[in-house]
Amino acid sequence: MEKLLIVDDDLGIQKQLKWSLADYDVVLADTRESAIAAVRRHEPNVVTLDLGLPPDATNASEGLATLKQILELAPHTKVIVITGNDDRSNALKAIEMGAYDFYQKPVDADVINVIVSRAFSLAKIEKDNRNMKSVVGCDTGIIGSSESIDKLRLMVQRIAPTLITTLLLGESGTGKEVTAKAIHKVSDRSDKPFIAINCASIPENLLESELFGFEKGAFTGAHKTTLGKIECAQGGTLFLDEIGDMPYHLQAKLLRFLQEKVIERLGGRKEIAVDVRIICATNQDLESMVAQKTFREDLFYRITEITINIPPLRDRDEDVLILANFFLQQYAGEYKRNVKSFADDALYGLRHHKWPGNIRELQNKVKSSVIMCTGSQISAFDLGFFDKENAEYELSLNLRAVREQAETIAIQKAYALTEGNMSKTSELLGITRPTLYSLIEKYKIAINI
Ligand SMILES: Nc1ncnc2c1ncn2[C@@H]1O[C@H](COP(=O)(O)OP(=O)(O)OP(=O)(O)O)[C@@H](O)[C@H]1O
Ligand SMILES: [Mg+2]
Repeated sequence: MEKLLIVDDDLGIQKQLKWSLADYDVVLADTRESAIAAVRRHEPNVVTLDLGLPPDATNASEGLATLKQILELAPHTKVIVITGNDDRSNALKAIEMGAYDFYQKPVDADVINVIVSRAFSLAKIEKDNRNMKSVVGCDTGIIGSSESIDKLRLMVQRIAPTLITTLLLGESGTGKEVTAKAIHKVSDRSDKPFIAINCASIPENLLESELFGFEKGAFTGAHKTTLGKIECAQGGTLFLDEIGDMPYHLQAKLLRFLQEKVIERLGGRKEIAVDVRIICATNQDLESMVAQKTFREDLFYRITEITINIPPLRDRDEDVLILANFFLQQYAGEYKRNVKSFADDALYGLRHHKWPGNIRELQNKVKSSVIMCTGSQISAFDLGFFDKENAEYELSLNLRAVREQAETIAIQKAYALTEGNMSKTSELLGITRPTLYSLIEKYKIAINI
């Protein structure tokens, strides 16, 4: 169970909160000192903090001081500030100081549960992100916390120091090239070149010279001796992407290079020794190509000393939000946007989308949403989820959720159509401005007011 610290001097409210938040391992404190001691001892990820603490419970100064101390001690703690009904300004002050959210009494078990559980999930995502950052910084650059990604990172570490020929299998956009680069980066060849060649994108008649290079005069147009990709990768790593598209006649030539570690440039006479590590990738079923005799069996065995399967994103749900947050931060920095997080509807869309284009699709969606987003939160609308015809997740079976979604979409569309004019937006929606504002607040719709 997750540890939750409740700081409140009112025993009645303590009890009520403890009862409402029965899913957590609750620790109680009623003063600044006992709260700080509990943070030290239990390191809770989430704290609820009553701002009116003794000695003077009518004023928020002790509560705010406690907040400050908690955040100094454990800056990643999500502190939910609890205030009296009429104490909005102190609540806002607390948010400015770094509180995660505020909640106005009286306590409603459902609402406080939603706020607390969101705080816990955010704390977890941020923690994963921090762990990941260290991973990104020091080695593979492969992000994710699913079991399969953990395994992948482990394989990369194991394979990197060897010269074993590796085949990477996976759908488009799953991270085959990222993995190949990671192997190179972790290996002792990292200061030598990493050269990638996509066998599918180069016309068949050019692929041979691209790979092996040519001597001056080897064919019309060969004005000067040119190195091929294999030679360019000397000492480093050569990534043969879409190896299944390698023409049959070239497969034999490639095999010879793999076995003998020598090449001959087109039109050349001498053998050139080349030391490169080979990593191949494909999205095709090479075994059935072998059976159909479109892929050489001997080459197949030569390149599959080890095979790594990279699973599609839909099979590793845990990675979606971590990657989404990673890309959000990356692009917010790159494009200098003040975008901080995903709104609830966006998180919902991210979790339920099937990601046929895998991580590349996720990356593109987050990138364009960061550019399109007008506020500090990305909405499902910004991510383009509402335009999809096949967005199964739009059809929630809970009628209240259906209504909320429909109203959210209508408001966002009207807002976009009127270019952010609230009077026109409310007119278009057939509601009053106050109703519009309250809906925006209720659904936490991310728009700039
Ligand atoms: N685990 C990961 N962590 C971070 N970024 C990733 C990860 N996997 C993929 N990406 C990013 O997603 C995009 C697609 O990855 P990559 O090019 O490696 O996929 P691929 O499997 O080679 O796709 P294709 O078959 O279409 O060539 C890249 O921009 C890459 O940086
Ligand atoms: Mg690729």
